[in-house]
Amino acid sequence: MQQIADWLEKLGMSEYAERFAESDIDTSVLRDLTDQDLKELGVSLGHRRKMLRAIAELVGAAPPSPQPALTEPKPQDTAERRQVTVMFSDLVGSTALSARMDPEDLREVIAAYQKCVDKTVRRFGGYVAKYMGDGVLVYFGYPQAHEDDAERAARAGLELVAAVGDLKTQAALQTRVGIATGLVVVGDLIGSGAAQEQAVVGETPNLAARLQGTAEPNTVVIAESTRKLLGNLFEFENLGAKDLKGVAGPVRAWAALRPSSVEGRFEAMHASGLTELIGREEELDLLLRRWSKAKTGEGQVVLLSGEPGIGKSRLTAALMERLATEPHTRLRYFCSPQHTDSALYPIIGQMQRAAGFAHEDTAQTKLNKLDAVLAQGFTPPQDAALFAEMLSLPNDGRYPTLELTPRQRRQKTLEALTAQMEALSRQKPVLMIFEDAHWADPTSLEAFGRAVDRIRTLGVFLIVTYRPEFEPPWIGRPHATALILNRLDEREIAAIIDGVTGNKLLSPSLRQDIIERTDGVPLFVEEMTKAVLEADSESGARQAAGAVPFAALAVPASLHASLMARLDRLGPAREVAQIGAAIGREFSHALLKAVAGKSEAELAASLDRLVAAGLLFRQGVPPHATYLFKHALVQDAAYGTLLREPRRALHARIAETMESQFTGIAENQPELLARHCNEAG
Ligand SMILES: Nc1ncnc2c1ncn2[C@@H]1O[C@H](COP(=O)(O)OP(=O)(O)OP(=O)(O)O)[C@@H](O)[C@H]1O
Ligand SMILES: [Mg+2]
Repeated sequence: MQQIADWLEKLGMSEYAERFAESDIDTSVLRDLTDQDLKELGVSLGHRRKMLRAIAELVGAAPPSPQPALTEPKPQDTAERRQVTVMFSDLVGSTALSARMDPEDLREVIAAYQKCVDKTVRRFGGYVAKYMGDGVLVYFGYPQAHEDDAERAARAGLELVAAVGDLKTQAALQTRVGIATGLVVVGDLIGSGAAQEQAVVGETPNLAARLQGTAEPNTVVIAESTRKLLGNLFEFENLGAKDLKGVAGPVRAWAALRPSSVEGRFEAMHASGLTELIGREEELDLLLRRWSKAKTGEGQVVLLSGEPGIGKSRLTAALMERLATEPHTRLRYFCSPQHTDSALYPIIGQMQRAAGFAHEDTAQTKLNKLDAVLAQGFTPPQDAALFAEMLSLPNDGRYPTLELTPRQRRQKTLEALTAQMEALSRQKPVLMIFEDAHWADPTSLEAFGRAVDRIRTLGVFLIVTYRPEFEPPWIGRPHATALILNRLDEREIAAIIDGVTGNKLLSPSLRQDIIERTDGVPLFVEEMTKAVLEADSESGARQAAGAVPFAALAVPASLHASLMARLDRLGPAREVAQIGAAIGREFSHALLKAVAGKSEAELAASLDRLVAAGLLFRQGVPPHATYLFKHALVQDAAYGTLLREPRRALHARIAETMESQFTGIAENQPELLARHCNEAG
């Protein structure tokens, strides 16, 4: 009862304490009190309103605790530095609601809202970090990074606005969303049990919350940092510069309006045109020869694989440029990492773009547009009905109604798709590009499997691009050619750097650093060079020409998420990667073991994992093996997650171990030892 008395005192209504006690009202029933109950207790109208609002706040403060699904990675219990895209969402007008609604109803409304946020963001791989009243704080990029975290956050925000609007609650609800990206320190777990939460330090969460505060109801406002990572994937409205509390200087803000209709990721990121293609003459030549052959009616398939950023999309773009003046039909299909389970996603997208659907089109208009494209392939009405259904358009009576079981419908749709391709190929040669097959849903894979078989006698050239983790089932077909893109050589990398810098000058040492750290991957080269240029212009006149600004060589924001995604997939092996990263680009099994202080079995399992994931090269057999980070930037990313103190301690341990157990290194490579001593402070 004392708690109730204290609570009433805080509200400035101690006069009711006795009456509450007489009626046996304690904190366990407080939340269930209705307006009528309070009236019966003799509480005045004004005080009833105040009390109910305070009760509602109690309700808001004790939301369902975020419960990560079992398959989700658990947050770590040690602090680390991360780039995270933070989303903050809030219910519009909750104070007004609390004044107007019965607290029990309000509680239901808030619970429904929070459930909706949780469900929506989870679908996009977001992590609900905290409920704050009726606001929700969400991370994208922690505990699990994805290469497209910024995009996931923006999509989740837009979907959330729609989903909250559709909620069937007593009052119509609206939400506001703010999103920002930046480096934060995700701290140790504080508190215990359900109240446990992870402290996040950095200006990003504050920025997201402040941007949310400036948003109009039902809008998603994003920071410049996030905007930069999104290219042209969305349509934006420039909201100009804003002064925000607790944030230094004016910040530029944007409203994300809707996903844009650009063809694919590659186009979205290269809106301002392409740099010149460097190298790849032989590969382009091979594609052109296969195209010539396909045109004669001997259909061809090229299976184009390579690691992220190596230039698969760039090469297909080069082919399209070369064929620009030739008459042909081009069909492009894009898989997406957020839609790996969404049946026929790339095919639906292709058809929507071909028909030219606009977001404001009515179903009627869309059907008309669909009919217009289908007419080019003389599509029979039954097939048109299937396509309309595939695009979730209602049959307004223009097509026959089909009585099919789901299984039959799937079968017939797949047949209709191949028939469509065949019909098109009779008019003009067809160039089909199926991008990022590693993210394809099973139904699309089946559709393309059929296409691959049918193509053999058609004037169709199909290029399938994918990363090495995918194994296309079509390898080995006589009309299929596997083409693997390798890293570029130093001369080619230098040419890419020059392409990015244009006429700005980069010091030779900086240039050499970029060449060394990017390992022949064009994407890394471009992003590192851009980051260096930006850092250079920021530090501007203060920096003597040619001096290496240390920050400039940190992992650029644009690469951070994709590199972290590779590390996060490793689970416990991540720690071994961090220790290895502190030792250097190359390290011996023996030194690692001495520093890590782990059992041989544990260490071996982690190292195997790192090798299998393509992050480390191994030479020799453990315990005499040595390891090399396949990418300097992966090493940098792993190293960059370490906080100052653990990093210092790690270097101290390495220096000690070298001095006491690896006297050879200490003698022959004193500079190595010196580096660790230096970093150990
Ligand atoms: N040969 C090249 N010459 C010039 N620039 C290149 C070359 N290859 C790739 N690039 C550039 O490098 C970046 C990455 O290339 P691209 O997007 O084609 O990689 P990708 O293999 O398709 O990667 P992902 O697996 O992520 O789709 C692009 O900006 C591209 O323009
Ligand atoms: Mg690509």
